[in-house]
Amino acid sequence: MITSMDSPAQRQDSTVRLPQFRVTVNSRCGRACFFCRPSGEAVATGAGQELSVQDLLAVAVPLLAHGIDSIKLTGGDPALWEPLEEAVTRLREAGFAEIELISRHPRIGERAAALARAGVTQFNMSVDTLDPALHRQICGVDDLAAVLGALTQVVATGVPVKVNTVVMAGVNDGEIEELAAWCEKTGVATLKLLDVIRDMDSGAESFARRLAITRGGASIGSLYVPLHEVAAALREQAASVDVRSQGGLGHPMTVLRLASGFEVVLKDSRAGAWYGDVCTGCRFYPCHDALMALRLTADRRLQFCLLREEISVPLGEILHDPDQMDSVLGRALSTYATARFRPAGPDDEPARPVRLLPVVAS
Ligand SMILES: C[S@@+](CC[C@H](N)C(=O)[O-])C[C@H]1O[C@@H](n2cnc3c(N)ncnc32)[C@H](O)[C@@H]1O
Ligand code: SF4
Ligand code: SF4
Repeated sequence: MITSMDSPAQRQDSTVRLPQFRVTVNSRCGRACFFCRPSGEAVATGAGQELSVQDLLAVAVPLLAHGIDSIKLTGGDPALWEPLEEAVTRLREAGFAEIELISRHPRIGERAAALARAGVTQFNMSVDTLDPALHRQICGVDDLAAVLGALTQVVATGVPVKVNTVVMAGVNDGEIEELAAWCEKTGVATLKLLDVIRDMDSGAESFARRLAITRGGASIGSLYVPLHEVAAALREQAASVDVRSQGGLGHPMTVLRLASGFEVVLKDSRAGAWYGDVCTGCRFYPCHDALMALRLTADRRLQFCLLREEISVPLGEILHDPDQMDSVLGRALSTYATARFRPAGPDDEPARPVRLLPVVAS
């Protein structure tokens, strides 16, 4: 929302602060990583929820007119969503320039060539360890060889591949160099190291496994490890070190580029994030950079902040009413236009009750 309090410079500035657009195409992922929500990257959704291609296009296409031509398809797991190739084709035809897929399911391997032909511009696979036993402990499925096999099939398409690794103290922080070397040798373009989002919910089953893995240290927060320490040796090998901005929303990220061109990206959110009014009174403050993506969820809601389930808008009938969708999306984007990322500071302590975002479906 642009207010009369904004200076002309802020108003002009706000026009370029667009969020990432992330779509959780389904709630099913076939695994149960102990640090994740049962239904993945969105509000908790019931089992078996999934979008249709029409649902996806009903939200995505109007966003093009607002300047968003980049989309991340996540879940759940897109590898288990049947209309994925059709969706990618239709998004490209509509005008999306960048389409990223995020998966950790072996089925992505057998679909990779068709997805590349359909127009995927970035594959993103999550791999937290090269140790089969630890992989089973982390995600509850004993199939590391199949996941790594799928990753090589994805690399063979020639589309750039990013590997996401959640770095956890005492769990996998000792194998990051080995993982980086493996990725570089395998043809992965980028290894992105993520710190643990400590506020994600977990199901009872994954909580029990977390206890086993962390040897009693059950809190996800206790798994935090400073990424710059973990990556110190990689930094020494780097031919260049840069800071990559995320367009004004989201933490700047450190990029270590090795002589081969292989990159290691550090998304270290230790400083927390402060976006202004929307964060005031938030019980998650200082959070790990949760706001900067607008999400369409598998149960047809718009979600503004990863951690704030209470600020999602059910789309229902509006979804297929172009005029109402355009109006809801315009107001949703205005929320980000006034958000201002900066590292959290001591004066930002939440003092007031949680404030809802000024965006509701009418
Ligand atoms: C929620 S998953 C959805 C896509 C797919 N199922 C996968 O695992 O890649 C997207 C990304 O979020 C990451 N993730 C999940 N829980 C996290 C947490 N508590 N902290 C940091 N990253 C997390 C996963 O590792 C994965 O890279
Ligand atoms: S991180 Fe694991 S549990 Fe979460 S959505 Fe991905 S595969 Fe499923
Ligand atoms: S509103 Fe979202 S971005 Fe702001 S502090 Fe809370 S969780 Fe973080």
